[in-house]
Amino acid sequence: MNLCIVGTGYVGLVSAACFAEMGNDVCCVDINPEVVENLRKGKVHIFEPGLDEIVKRNTEQGRLKFTTSIKEGMEHALFVFVCVGTPSKPDGSCDLSFVYQVGKEIGQNMQDYKIVVDKSTVPVGTADKMRSIIAEELKARGVSLEFDVVSNPEFLKEGDAVNDFLKPDRVVVGTENVRTAELLKALYSPFARSRDKLIVMSVRSAEMTKYAANCMLATKISFINEISNICERVGADVRDVRVGIGSDHRIGYQFIYPGMGYGGSCFPKDVKALIDTSRQYEFEPQLLASVDEVNNRQKHVLSGKILKYFEPQGGVVGKTLAIWGLAFKANTDDVREAAAFELIRDLTAKGMKVRCFDPVAGPNTRKEFAGDPNVEVVDEQYAALEGAAALAVVTEWNQFRNPDFERIKKTIKAPLIFDGRNLYSPSFMGELGFAYFCIGRKDPK
Ligand code: UDX
Repeated sequence: MNLCIVGTGYVGLVSAACFAEMGNDVCCVDINPEVVENLRKGKVHIFEPGLDEIVKRNTEQGRLKFTTSIKEGMEHALFVFVCVGTPSKPDGSCDLSFVYQVGKEIGQNMQDYKIVVDKSTVPVGTADKMRSIIAEELKARGVSLEFDVVSNPEFLKEGDAVNDFLKPDRVVVGTENVRTAELLKALYSPFARSRDKLIVMSVRSAEMTKYAANCMLATKISFINEISNICERVGADVRDVRVGIGSDHRIGYQFIYPGMGYGGSCFPKDVKALIDTSRQYEFEPQLLASVDEVNNRQKHVLSGKILKYFEPQGGVVGKTLAIWGLAFKANTDDVREAAAFELIRDLTAKGMKVRCFDPVAGPNTRKEFAGDPNVEVVDEQYAALEGAAALAVVTEWNQFRNPDFERIKKTIKAPLIFDGRNLYSPSFMGELGFAYFCIGRKDPK
């Protein structure tokens, strides 16, 4: 099948590469000429395990093409996927200007029947708005063409995106049109082989499903973070509590790891956007507002522990903290809404210096803190420890799980670790002679 994919971010590029991998002819459109130029050469601008290889292979074999022209991209396509960004506005609502701009351009360039697929996460009602934007453009051109707008939200996780796309738990298709549903079923049949994996529903239900899924997951995380804060105070250990509750299959073990609060491009934005949508419909979403608040508070838990620890020692002014992990989670270079950045801001505001390391998110962090003399990003894990008063572990990269603790002890000023991801065993850390602070467990004296 012939596809046009507009937007080459995590969702667009991964979808394009995976569709091409199944033999489809895919043309990607991006407004950034540098990104397009690089992609043509097989150079991928985002870090996503396995993506380079599949982009390169399909580009070489001619199934994956790149252009800055939506007109060219759409020319032979039956499906036009809209995968452009939907950032948060300062008030928490979703900025749909990129999506609607694409809608306009689709209307301006359409020559025959197209199925326009909203894959970006967009508030309920966006597909209807897209339909009217395209219709207006067609009217202005004085042409009458048939087209369809469907919702097909994407559930992939950064860091595991290719895998998630190739083996999805489900594919949600929102359309009232039976023929369109059949065409999408055919397109997705290599990924969602068993029929019940493809779930067809109304456009609005599909749009809502994406928000409901992300808000449910965000709720699980805020729930366990709340429990962890209570555990710390009452002398319970959230690691045991997690296993204790997760063993109930109705609850499950997944997505109840306490930590630094959720970050990334989806959860914070989507929770805020659904709150905003609810308020537009004059409904106050109390639970979602709390999920968001609990998460904002959680991002300051580790800095709170660090400041409290150093308070009796004259505070943190002039001291350096080593930070391991900057990305919002492991296996990505994405630093959007990263908890590490909140930690850096909290501590540098109090006069502490930070020396940070991340396996891949160093360059993005340098960009964020360019010109700040208190923030140094180093290229080697143990180099971050030199002259540091303590180590804070913020992202759960595998290479931080079993580090050389003796080397840490030798390099750092004092054997002191603040672990925002509960990567180590408190008793083992005690045996090794570290003062060890983690999440959801009473702090050592
Ligand atoms: C998420 C959804 O998982 C995905 O389905 C959706 O399409 C996009 O949003 P992503 O943002 O890439 O994907 O990351 P995810 O792995 O879900 O983690 C989100 C955040 O939650 C991270 O900051 C992570 O560290 C945190 N998290 C996750 C926890 O703190 N505890 C957990 O138990 C799980």
